[in-house]
Amino acid sequence: MIDIHSHILPEVDDGARSVEEALEMLRMAVDSGVTIQVLTPHIHFGRFENKKEDLEQKFQIFQDKADAANIKIGLQLASEVRISSEIMQLVARNDIPTLGQSNNKKYFLLEFPRIELPVGYENLVKWLVNKHYMPVIVHPERNQTFVRQPQKLQVLLDIGCPLQITASSLVGQFGDEAKNNAQKLLIDGHVSAIASDCHNLKGRKPNLDLGRKLAAGLVGEELSHRYCYDIPFLLIGENTHSC
Ligand SMILES: [Fe+2]
Repeated sequence: MIDIHSHILPEVDDGARSVEEALEMLRMAVDSGVTIQVLTPHIHFGRFENKKEDLEQKFQIFQDKADAANIKIGLQLASEVRISSEIMQLVARNDIPTLGQSNNKKYFLLEFPRIELPVGYENLVKWLVNKHYMPVIVHPERNQTFVRQPQKLQVLLDIGCPLQITASSLVGQFGDEAKNNAQKLLIDGHVSAIASDCHNLKGRKPNLDLGRKLAAGLVGEELSHRYCYDIPFLLIGENTHSC
């Protein structure tokens, strides 16, 4: 499987707090069947102000540690960007670590707040798409506005944004509302990818295998493979590495 969303890169956000924890998370990812793990630190103005250049340096150091620890997994750097008008500056400076590029689109993870949507969010997304940046909307099942007013999510689907749901949501770890909504999005055919969004070794651990199994029970093995491998493979595009 290819996991396109994780907070394994250590000491850059609210994910892994040490190299040791991060390496252990990678081992868990391998055990769960992940062959390519994308590391997607938060870029969130006012909270996690990570810069692409710094992340690239830290990624290289971590890649060397994973190699030295002989962990057989392909690693790639991208990011999870919180929606805000500052994204326009990041685009202008070519400062978003993206998943990859295909069909002249740079895919990257875009996060919305848990409850509200910023005013004009659809215009910002359209602006990004015009600049050839295609946001992958992460865990829409956990945003209360998307859950209660699905037409607001439909606007993003109509623009062409892929949706990524979280394995832990599918299995009920974020409560019944997130579970029901994740499962409904999946059954309705709106999902492009399932990812772990893992943060640590306990509460939010690498568990893409659980999401995949649950998805297989709901929509079949073939589609669950599509969401955990085929579409993620397209999203990481030419950045693809293997171990
Ligand atoms: Fe995340």
